[in-house]
Amino acid sequence: MGLFTKKPITKLILDSSEGEKSLKRTLSAANLVALGIGAIIGAGLFVRTASAAANHAGPSVTISFILAAVGCAFAGLCYAEFASMIPIAGSAYTYSYATMGELVAWIIGWDLVLEYAVGAATVGIAWSEYLNKLLEIFHIHVPYQWCHSPFEICTDKDGMFAAQLGTHGIMNLPALFIIFMLTILLIKGTKESAFVNGIIVISKVAIVILFIVLGWGFMVPANHTPYIPAVTTYTDSYGINYSFGGIWGIIGAAGTVFFAFIGFDAVSTAAQEAKNPKRDMPIGILGSLVVCTILYILFAHVLTGVATVDDFRNSGKEGSVVFAIQKYMTGYTWLANMVTVAILFGFSSVILVMLMGQSRVFYSMSKDGLVPKLFSDLHPKFHTPYKSNWVFLIFVGGFAAFIPGDIVGDMTSIGTLFAFILVCAGVWILRRTNPEIPRQFKVPAVGLVAILGILVCGAMIAGLGWTNWTRLGVWLAIGLFVYFGYSRKHSKLKD
Ligand code: ALA
Repeated sequence: MGLFTKKPITKLILDSSEGEKSLKRTLSAANLVALGIGAIIGAGLFVRTASAAANHAGPSVTISFILAAVGCAFAGLCYAEFASMIPIAGSAYTYSYATMGELVAWIIGWDLVLEYAVGAATVGIAWSEYLNKLLEIFHIHVPYQWCHSPFEICTDKDGMFAAQLGTHGIMNLPALFIIFMLTILLIKGTKESAFVNGIIVISKVAIVILFIVLGWGFMVPANHTPYIPAVTTYTDSYGINYSFGGIWGIIGAAGTVFFAFIGFDAVSTAAQEAKNPKRDMPIGILGSLVVCTILYILFAHVLTGVATVDDFRNSGKEGSVVFAIQKYMTGYTWLANMVTVAILFGFSSVILVMLMGQSRVFYSMSKDGLVPKLFSDLHPKFHTPYKSNWVFLIFVGGFAAFIPGDIVGDMTSIGTLFAFILVCAGVWILRRTNPEIPRQFKVPAVGLVAILGILVCGAMIAGLGWTNWTRLGVWLAIGLFVYFGYSRKHSKLKD
């Protein structure tokens, strides 16, 4: 069997119904939308909106959200068709195995580790930062060395660690802690995880809506004038130059806020646990995308109306939402504190869904023999891939504890965009090669949507620059080494 052997769709569907030994079908359409929102709303909205406005687009960051959403919608439509047709765990990996063959499937499965596992580590690190912001309310904080990686030195960016200038980080304990707790929850069961996720989603959406409604009255028209700032160059405190304002400002900001949409595709990894996947997967994927896009645009409009670009650049930084409330929304300190708590919850649900997505992708790869069997061993009682969860606790926890957050953030974006491109190509290919397979949901004008999806995601990859292209290249090279050293020999399609 060759590198381009495709897994027959009929076999894929058979594999998904192995009775006793398979994952349990417990998730409804509403659970899936909640799962999507759980993965989507997080650091991207609460942290990156202000930084995109500060560095690139000012108030026109709302237009950037629309642009990034359009790119995601193309990919989302393609994901929805696949998920309604091949309703088994594994997401983009599974789809590529059926359409583009084993080698491409391997590459995408390996690449998804960047999106899910490294993504979970990134948000875990952000969680640790916000934990300190919450503790600050009570005038305590975790000592610098126990909430930073060994590669970081305290420069007292925000004054929180004034007594510890020059201290080296040792390990990021809070990040490790949250990943450990969520791993335990995942092992306990998908239904339990979906329940906890549901509660978190309700509280974080409530806070977003509260901010929009209460902040609306505090908007100042001058902050929105002009809505698209004139073109200038902005140099931040690290000496990095940004093209600010105009169309390029909007496009640059779209690349930044793209991170806020990462996660809607995680719904597709749970296809094997959906009660009625053919109908509910498109609802889950597209529904969560639509809800989040509307909330994001309104949130960004209010935030940039309440505070100024100067605030985002000089004072608010990553805590800009809380800063804007404290400075301009008199009498709403309680809202600022609630936002901090909601951010901590919000980040937790993002990590939860990412960890779940990761273990489900490796579950499928393991079923196909491409990674060892332990990744698909299910817990006798909970029916979850618990050994896989433990392995990824070590991997993700290691990243979160010892690597700085900024290194892992863009790797998450580039890995995701690459996966989107393959999914767009895959859905189009499969329409041509297997038009006869029933599809509950069909992408309208598939050729056009696929090409536009590839172009928009390709443009965002181009915007991420050399460093990130190199990192993606190195990661994929390691993956090929593993494929030719292990996976190819153990592939079940050989038999
Ligand atoms: N979309 C997720 C977030 O913004 C990754 O945190």
